[in-house]
Amino acid sequence: MSDSLDKDSPSTDDNSQLEIKPEFKRKAVRSYVIRAGRMTAGQKAAFDRYWRHYGLSLFDGVIEPQRVFGRSAPLVVEVGFGMGDSLLAMAKAEPDKDFIGIEVHPPGVGRLINNAGKEEVSNLRVYMADAVDVLNDCIPPESVDRFQLYFPDPWHKKKHHKRRIVRADFLQLVLSRLKPAALLHFATDWENYAEQMAEVLEAAEDFVSEGGASPFVERPAFRPITKFEQRGARLGHGVWDLLYRKV
Ligand SMILES: C[S@@+](CC[C@H](N)C(=O)[O-])C[C@H]1O[C@@H](n2cnc3c(N)ncnc32)[C@H](O)[C@@H]1O
Repeated sequence: MSDSLDKDSPSTDDNSQLEIKPEFKRKAVRSYVIRAGRMTAGQKAAFDRYWRHYGLSLFDGVIEPQRVFGRSAPLVVEVGFGMGDSLLAMAKAEPDKDFIGIEVHPPGVGRLINNAGKEEVSNLRVYMADAVDVLNDCIPPESVDRFQLYFPDPWHKKKHHKRRIVRADFLQLVLSRLKPAALLHFATDWENYAEQMAEVLEAAEDFVSEGGASPFVERPAFRPITKFEQRGARLGHGVWDLLYRKV
């Protein structure tokens, strides 16, 4: 583990006054609502203890992944990791890759950095910010080897569909951040959203489905079952995985 994650020595930065709230820029339509969810004492303490190691700020601008991680490795970016357990499992299962998670829900960020810190996971960094802002301002063009978005908020009422994060403009933004031949992976348990994802991807022309003629694939081995997915399964929901490659 790198020297900067020294759990036993007192922090040189005074993070105790850190305001724990997500970073985002003003915009007309957001894909999320900031939930009031209470943080546990452990999640709060995690910000004092581990944020200086794992946290990246939207307002620090474009990153150089090799500098952030201190090595050159394939980069995976996940948007909306929720409580973070599946992202942490992936980072541990693929130590040869570096992972950047982006999430606006502070308790989820706290849980992820707490568990990552305790387990001394070194190939992970986190933005507590709006993913659209982070992709625009922080992730360099053609830098990402795999982009993943699992069970984004479905916004199931028709009048709210404009808040769905997967739209043509979002896909173009993601496309610009992907390396040639990079993978893009979406999953949802909402059939109507799966169809919308497939339509947007098919219209983009710059992606080919790993499912051949079908937009859908079986869940790839690298994707663990997520917390939100488990909840959907209990309610009898189906699951659609879309795995595309940038051409
Ligand atoms: C339905 S949850 C799914 C969480 C997790 N992927 C899972 O499967 O358990 C969607 C998550 O996306 C986050 N989210 C939505 N829009 C976002 C955005 N623009 N930037 C960052 N996170 C976002 C929400 O805060 C929420 O935690």
